Amino acid sequence: MTIELAPSILSANFARLADDAKAALEGGGTVLHLDVMDGHFVPNITIGPPVVASLRKALPDAVFDCHLMIENPDGYIPAFADAGANWISVHHVLVMSVNPGFGSQTFIHGSLNKIKTLAEVRESLGLSFRIEVDGGVALDTVSDIVHAGAELLVAGNAVFGRGDIRENAKRLLGAARAAMLTRA
Ligand code: DX5
Ligand code: ZN
Repeated sequence: MTIELAPSILSANFARLADDAKAALEGGGTVLHLDVMDGHFVPNITIGPPVVASLRKALPDAVFDCHLMIENPDGYIPAFADAGANWISVHHVLVMSVNPGFGSQTFIHGSLNKIKTLAEVRESLGLSFRIEVDGGVALDTVSDIVHAGAELLVAGNAVFGRGDIRENAKRLLGAARAAMLTRA
């Protein structure tokens, strides 16, 4: 399975969101991860459908993964779909590897076991779903995460936190691809 990097805009500069997002995609990100939080389901508030719709205008061809961390996510699916979401993630085979709500947290190592269990279930049932991991994906954690069985890597702080966004994305994707080559 192909490894993909999904830059999470939570750590981008929201005043220049489209430019930051574009840089992360130019660095090799193939899915833009948009964290939607309502201050109830998680203790933080981020963006809603109008911001997704504006980003869609600025990036007409990008794949948007809207990660809904809100009360009553089902009720909002049409609004995000209309705003331009390609995928809507609630909590399917998305392994949260930090406590949902904030970027730049430390990776919870116990989540490697969740990824491994999902990968074993996938293998034993002959299924081909991809495992998405969200939180604390960085240069020092990415190979363990890929070796455990994940293919879709969400990364906020590691891409947008500091330094050059394109280079950060490129380096992280390179490390993930290298780990994929040595995955059992
Ligand atoms: C956290 C969000 C994540 C967050 C990951 O609740 O779902 O998408 O942006 O951020 P990092 O990569 O900084 O841990
Ligand atoms: Zn997320």
